[in-house]
Amino acid sequence: MLIRNETPRDIPVIGRIITEAFLVLPQSTGTEADIVEKLREQDALSLSLVAEDEGEVIGYLAASPASIGTQSGWSLIGPLAVLPARHRQGVGSALMAEALGRLRAVSRGAVLAGDPAYYGRFGYRALPGVELAGLPPEVVQVLPFDDAEPHGKVRHHPAFGVGESE
Ligand SMILES: CC(C)(COP(=O)(O)OP(=O)(O)OC[C@H]1O[C@@H](n2cnc3c(N)ncnc32)[C@H](O)[C@@H]1OP(=O)(O)O)[C@@H](O)C(=O)NCCC(=O)NCCS
Repeated sequence: MLIRNETPRDIPVIGRIITEAFLVLPQSTGTEADIVEKLREQDALSLSLVAEDEGEVIGYLAASPASIGTQSGWSLIGPLAVLPARHRQGVGSALMAEALGRLRAVSRGAVLAGDPAYYGRFGYRALPGVELAGLPPEVVQVLPFDDAEPHGKVRHHPAFGVGESE
């Protein structure tokens, strides 16, 4: 499996993967593919990675700039999506490992909204006082790359349509 940057040819398939992956998620808003379109249009994708296996794109991860409280320089990860037929084959983990490796060089840390049971394995945890869009605190998952102690609201690109924008 290869993890690489998106190319223009990948764009339609990325939309399909996100839509299909999020169909199974009860808390999905159905807008996740549109969010990526908007981020791309506005040149706000700091990472747009695909997972390719035998020439087929089967997974996707986006990252965009964010801040927490007064600290800029954070990266918001999401959406992360893997084709349902390819779940539990390490695709999501491979995308996350590559993303964290790249972001470490350029960010203070990563933040996302997601299930702690999944993201804990990468070192994410809920931090007291870090808030995102009124979500339950336990799903606001933070992975600082240094000893930064972030505190406050996560601000992200307006394309996400909820919570505080940068
Ligand atoms: C979440 C997702 C990206 C994981 O991708 P994946 O390629 O299946 O993940 P991996 O193969 O790297 O890891 C699979 C492991 O994570 C676990 N896992 C997957 N989703 C989980 C969840 N929500 N909670 C707890 N564990 C989860 C699997 O049970 C499996 O555990 P195991 O290794 O002990 O068998 C994929 O399930 C997906 O696209 N889901 C729909 C969209 C989504 O939920 N995106 C994230 C929104 S925050």
